[in-house]
Amino acid sequence: MSENEKEEQKPAGPPQDLKDMADLVSLCKRRGFVFPSSEVYGGINACWDYGPLGIELKRNVKERWWRAMVDREDVEGLDAAILMHPKVWEASGHVAGFVDPLVDCKKCKSRFRADKIDAEAMKSKKCPECGGELTEPRQFNLMFRTFMGPLEDAASVVYLRPETAQGIYVNFLNVQQSTRKKVPFGIAQIGKAFRNEITPGNFIFRTREFEQMEMQFFVKPGTDVEWFERWKQTRIEWHLANGIRKNKLRFHEHGAGELAHYAKAAFDIEYEFPFGWQELEGIHNRTDFDLGRHQQFSGKKLEYFDEEHRERYLPYIVETSAGCDRTLLVALADAYRFDGERVWLALHPHLAPYKVAVYPLMKKPELKEYTETVYADLKKNFRVTTDEAGSIGKRYRRQDEIGTPFGVTIDYDTLSNHTVTVRHRDSMAQERVSTDKLSGYIQDKIHNWEK
Ligand code: GAP
Repeated sequence: MSENEKEEQKPAGPPQDLKDMADLVSLCKRRGFVFPSSEVYGGINACWDYGPLGIELKRNVKERWWRAMVDREDVEGLDAAILMHPKVWEASGHVAGFVDPLVDCKKCKSRFRADKIDAEAMKSKKCPECGGELTEPRQFNLMFRTFMGPLEDAASVVYLRPETAQGIYVNFLNVQQSTRKKVPFGIAQIGKAFRNEITPGNFIFRTREFEQMEMQFFVKPGTDVEWFERWKQTRIEWHLANGIRKNKLRFHEHGAGELAHYAKAAFDIEYEFPFGWQELEGIHNRTDFDLGRHQQFSGKKLEYFDEEHRERYLPYIVETSAGCDRTLLVALADAYRFDGERVWLALHPHLAPYKVAVYPLMKKPELKEYTETVYADLKKNFRVTTDEAGSIGKRYRRQDEIGTPFGVTIDYDTLSNHTVTVRHRDSMAQERVSTDKLSGYIQDKIHNWEK
């Protein structure tokens, strides 16, 4: 048995999943994934900052989404401004309809969405927390308002966009004409969205500032049902390819009472969080509602002209709308494992902030020197980190907790036979690999990754 194998403790028990979100929140803070926003001032409700590891993970999520959606012949990318003409939000229905009914408890001051509390509690007007009296429901618009220019009057009101989708609709013809795309085709966008949520919470699950990854696919009316099915499958497969466990994902079809004002059909992809099954992504058949409304409100024709069939029509839209922060939360929650002693994130290597950690077994100059060479070599192909503080067992644990899939250890045998120990995060298995084959070996393992 090698020195570093001796250092490894065996699994203390079978791996358990995340049970309490507080464990994940604490890991994220401690290891630099996610911090509460403005923490030195006591924080600000429902806003979070991504730390050094969180931003790497987030960039990996976005990059995988972008490549999957835009590296296709039939989808183009876009980056529209957050601030848009206020009429956009009248046309979209958000000024009139993007409202939640809000009730307050007169006694304990708790605030609830009236549509989310128990029907009995609503009927009796009793607070579900303390039994105190509830106020009448008030309609509350979720859009953040601000003013453009020096005057703070009604004419200068603008909104922080509550979804990225509208930036795509108003650019439909710009993109179509500049790229000469033929329907069916899609436009994809990643960007910030803002909602003044009444009941944010569950860490980064529901926040007031978040990022969306949305794609709007424009199709000929009559083909929308078929495209809707195709996109449903494509999107769930994307989550599976990120390593999310199949039994933790499901579709939920919106019933008539749940459908948004714009949708003919809608399915959510849901994930089973420790706090229950919740929406991760929405796939919506929006018909010609959006283009029709923008045409009506702007007075500009937004029809597509099909040159081949010499016909003009307003395309139907199939939308796929995923929260970036929520996808990241799913990746973390799904990857969290605990065996009674060891905590590790079984992240798919494509998502992991670091792919490899390289260590000298001991702080000896000859081992450090060799480590630097291996490090520099691996860095050409992967995000690599190193660590020489404490026992090798402790160093493995530190990398396990941030999801680094491979550990590479340089020991005295390395100096004589040019082989290193590769230690695997999930199984803790160790193998000797020769240094000249190391990059290819890791590349291969990542490429053929299976949970
Ligand atoms: N354009 C359609 C649209 O915005 P949505 O179901 O309201 O649809 C889509 O939002 C996705 O955006 C959700 O599935 C979720 O992942 C994410 N999302 C929505 N509100 C959010 C919030 N307050 N915090 C974090 N993510 C949110």
